[in-house]
Amino acid sequence: AEDGYDLWLRYQPLESSAKARYEPLVTHLVAPNARPTIRAATDELQRGFKAMFGYDLVQRETLMGNGAVLVTRADSPNLKGLDLPFAKLGEEGYLIRTAVIAGNRTTIIAGNSDVGTLYGVFRFLKLLQTGQPIDNLDIVDAPKLKVRVLNHWDNLDRHVERGYAGQSLWDWQKLPLHKDPRYTDYARANASIGINGTVLTNVNANADILRPDYLQKVKALAEVFRPYGIKVYLTARFSAPIELGKLKTADPLDPQVQAWWKAKIDEIYSVIPDFGGLLVKANSEGQPGPADYKRTHAEGANMLADALAPHHGILMWRAFVYAAENAEDRHKQAYTEFQPLDGKFRDNVLVQVKNGAIDFQPREPFHPLFGAMPKTPLMMEFQITKEYLGFATHLAYLGTMWEEVLEADTFRPKKGSTVAKVIETPVDAGAATGMAGVANIGSDRNWSGSQFDQANWYAFGRFAWDPDAKAEAIARDWAAMTWGREAADPVVRMMMGSREAVVDYMTPLGLAHLMATGHHYGPGPWVSDLARPEWNPVYYHKADAAGIGFDRTAKGSDALSQYAPEVVKAWGSPKTIPENLLLWFHHLPWDYRTKSGRTLWDELVTRYDAGVDVVGKMQADWAALRGKVDETRWAEVRDFLAIQHAEATWWRDASIAYFQSISKRPLPAGHKPPA
Ligand code: GCU
Repeated sequence: AEDGYDLWLRYQPLESSAKARYEPLVTHLVAPNARPTIRAATDELQRGFKAMFGYDLVQRETLMGNGAVLVTRADSPNLKGLDLPFAKLGEEGYLIRTAVIAGNRTTIIAGNSDVGTLYGVFRFLKLLQTGQPIDNLDIVDAPKLKVRVLNHWDNLDRHVERGYAGQSLWDWQKLPLHKDPRYTDYARANASIGINGTVLTNVNANADILRPDYLQKVKALAEVFRPYGIKVYLTARFSAPIELGKLKTADPLDPQVQAWWKAKIDEIYSVIPDFGGLLVKANSEGQPGPADYKRTHAEGANMLADALAPHHGILMWRAFVYAAENAEDRHKQAYTEFQPLDGKFRDNVLVQVKNGAIDFQPREPFHPLFGAMPKTPLMMEFQITKEYLGFATHLAYLGTMWEEVLEADTFRPKKGSTVAKVIETPVDAGAATGMAGVANIGSDRNWSGSQFDQANWYAFGRFAWDPDAKAEAIARDWAAMTWGREAADPVVRMMMGSREAVVDYMTPLGLAHLMATGHHYGPGPWVSDLARPEWNPVYYHKADAAGIGFDRTAKGSDALSQYAPEVVKAWGSPKTIPENLLLWFHHLPWDYRTKSGRTLWDELVTRYDAGVDVVGKMQADWAALRGKVDETRWAEVRDFLAIQHAEATWWRDASIAYFQSISKRPLPAGHKPPA
């Protein structure tokens, strides 16, 4: 469809030359098994084949001549005698191999499990969609993380917190008897990128989701998702024993509370035997938690983990905490609270840490907890929905941001211990690993609120599968599948520069959290009157007559000391810190000389200008694509870029005007004043 509903699974008709090349290699499908996941895989293969080739792919019981695609599992008798690397695939990996079986040239797609095979089929379809050769395949791939989950911040009334793509997909009122076919398409899209779990409900949780009637609805969703290898998870409100159980307390050390959770969790598993587990936001932004009873995060988490353990469930416990009564630099609070608990969490707990220490800003340094809790499974939390990056109307490809964080060196325990390595390496043999992405999905026809935000969903899945993946390669795959190969080059170019442009026109040089109050849309660097100091943008930029920036060195809040000594050394001096983090860690005079030779003030203005200019270039790139992509989607993107350009200009002009009222410096030559 030309409204974006098909996402990257558009399966456009092949050019005749590609078709001619592929046809002898794909003559029939053999899938000697009807288990639900294999059915899902073959249905997808047939759907994709028909759309790309224009006719049905014949399915046969056995291999008959050359060109079979054999969709099967490691234990298949068809594979006897072949030397295939199943040992490398783990539970969810796959291989795609060109082989001769009983004289027939065959493409084998197989995993150790059916879901591995399903992932292999999606990979095979991608090869066709992106025009790759398929005559001599030898692909082996397996996910590096075990838990690859979306976090839906979806409320039971279908409002999505920080959602810019319509209502929640989950139509609780019509469940369980009506299962919207869209749930299946959601599962297909996720499986195509290896996502294997979904937390259906908001971290600011409503205990009602744990009621028996809601569990029946959750069960219905779990049934739709199961063939696609996707487990359901729920958020647990820590005070549920009081709200649902009518107990007087939710103290995790109270035997009645423990018994209530155990019974509740047993009940969930009696309804959904493969339930994934629970996600908890506790003692953060007003949510209840163990600290209400003077207990630690570990005591709270372990109580739930113990109840989940007999069912092999996982408990995800968020490290996103900062408290009103705490005067410590907000950057420091999660580390202060969690790091001393290293080693105190059960094996089935994953402590879920946001990529940066504040809150999903356009740029943050990596969170200091990565590498600092070697005895605790830590999982990454990225935000796919663009709360702080212009909602759905600004084009910002987040792949480059996530790559930057994952590649960052924690130096813990030694050089080369990147954030990716930290999250990939199980703390004990068999311990959980994972990545969560706050979903940008809603009931809009295009799922994500804009065509280009689909790329962020796609990229999240790819990074969760392989945290060492490259943002540009991912963008290229997405662009070719979504916009066609002819458009891919300019689309990738636009994507690759897009996030830096947002950084520049909103919060350049390491500034952060300057968005307007509450909704976080548009500039508000002047805001200073909110109840809690750390909600006010002035808390973050600290601009005064002398200069600008947040001193987080030893002379200041000393948040820097939460990092490894090598990082402290590099970032401790304004001369050696990467300039894109400069004002995150340093308060510097307006006349400080930056690497360009310009003063800090002039550099700041120059960056704001640069950000707006890049949006202008994206508009020009897009204009040149008219006629090369369908008009409906083209026009939508054109309009959104126009919105972005207007708002980037607004950000720039408002920010410069405000900061100039403090710096009292003239605008540098070359700056174009507002029209
Ligand atoms: C941000 C966001 C909230 C959200 C919170 C969280 O602060 O604005 O809406 O609840 O993050 O991650 O818990």
